[in-house]
Amino acid sequence: MPKLGVNIDHVATIRQARGGFEPDPIKAALLCEEAGADSIVAHLREDRRHIKEKDLFRLIKVIRTHLNLEMSIAPEIADVALKLKPKQATLVPERRLELTTEGGLDVKAGFKKIKKTVQILKQSGIEVSLFIDPDIKQIGASLDVGAGIIELHTGNYANAKTPLQKKNELKRIKKATDYALKKGFVVNAGHGLNYKNVKPIAHIEGMNELNIGHSIISHAVFVGIFEAVKKMRELIR
Ligand code: PXP
Repeated sequence: MPKLGVNIDHVATIRQARGGFEPDPIKAALLCEEAGADSIVAHLREDRRHIKEKDLFRLIKVIRTHLNLEMSIAPEIADVALKLKPKQATLVPERRLELTTEGGLDVKAGFKKIKKTVQILKQSGIEVSLFIDPDIKQIGASLDVGAGIIELHTGNYANAKTPLQKKNELKRIKKATDYALKKGFVVNAGHGLNYKNVKPIAHIEGMNELNIGHSIISHAVFVGIFEAVKKMRELIR
């Protein structure tokens, strides 16, 4: 059964709407853990639009699971990661004006810089995951830069307009998972997963962890974050 990583960025997004102290993403993380989350995911964006350094340093002290820090390869963000020392860092592409992470990391195109960041993080004991499209070439490049974990981008699957498109995207993700497992990767998946589309992804043989944010925080508005995480946990199970 895959584990569940809960992304708490959007708790901080709501806080930033007023710039005060509530809702507190750390309180949310503790409730996520109580409800069965296996890890807490947070993205320190270069523009600091939601999660701030201060949140991360508070978070890492109190959570009982572990932090998976989503980050770009910008050197100033890598410096924060080196001080913070999360158990895991997930490298993602980042564009300033995007609403959310669009597409996976192009490991082939950014090979040198990505390899350098992977090495720096690994040398400090941080496990490194690369957020990539379910593409054989990207998996090969991920191997070459020395990452031990990949997270397959499920956005195309989640946004598929027709059942056939959805079926084909699912096939791509399954094929990529099989290939990556054979190459020795730990395989995670995420982006756009929700209560309606998560089951086929959770069913994929060998899938280690699903990282989910927006749908859980959206559902939490109505039922509370504990219930929202619990329900997702049950669906995955
Ligand atoms: N995994 C990665 C690498 C992401 O960048 C995101 C979005 O922050 C997620 C998972 C979660 O995506 P969503 O919010 O659509 O569930």
